[in-house]
Amino acid sequence: MSETLYDRLGGEDAIAAVVDRFYERVMADEQVVHYFDDVDMQKQRAHQTQFISAVAGGPVDYTGADMEAAHDDLGISKPDFDAIVAHLEATLEEFDVDEADRDAVLSAVGEYEDAIVTVPA
Ligand code: HEM
Repeated sequence: MSETLYDRLGGEDAIAAVVDRFYERVMADEQVVHYFDDVDMQKQRAHQTQFISAVAGGPVDYTGADMEAAHDDLGISKPDFDAIVAHLEATLEEFDVDEADRDAVLSAVGEYEDAIVTVPA
């Protein structure tokens, strides 16, 4: 069996560590932190870990809401989307994920931009 992106990232535990650090960065960012005011961050981290594991080809079921339903009411703009993606990219860099794999993660989550961004800049 060939190695998946999920394997190269180090599997679910490594992805969970990336997700923890990612949300630390997000919560420290004034531009986007308000979106998470009423969010159960433990559940959020768990769902995000499942989601990234699944889109990276891991043997993990994502059990959260679909991307459109989860973000529909939030009124997310493209600059806010880009800010979140930049935190994910910087976190992957911090964890020494190489550029090809960083790009693969970002392009996998980038597929959901149209479902997540609901307001014009
Ligand atoms: C980079 C692309 C993104 C991905 C892959 C992603 C993924 C997710 C996932 C998996 C959930 C969990 C859904 C659930 O628990 O059922 C979620 C919820 C959420 N996302 Fe995102 N998201 C992205 C971008 C964003 C952006 C740009 C924002 C805000 C600026 C945002 C704000 C939120 C909030 C506030 C929730 C919680 C909704 C709630 O529990 O009521 N997300 N997202």
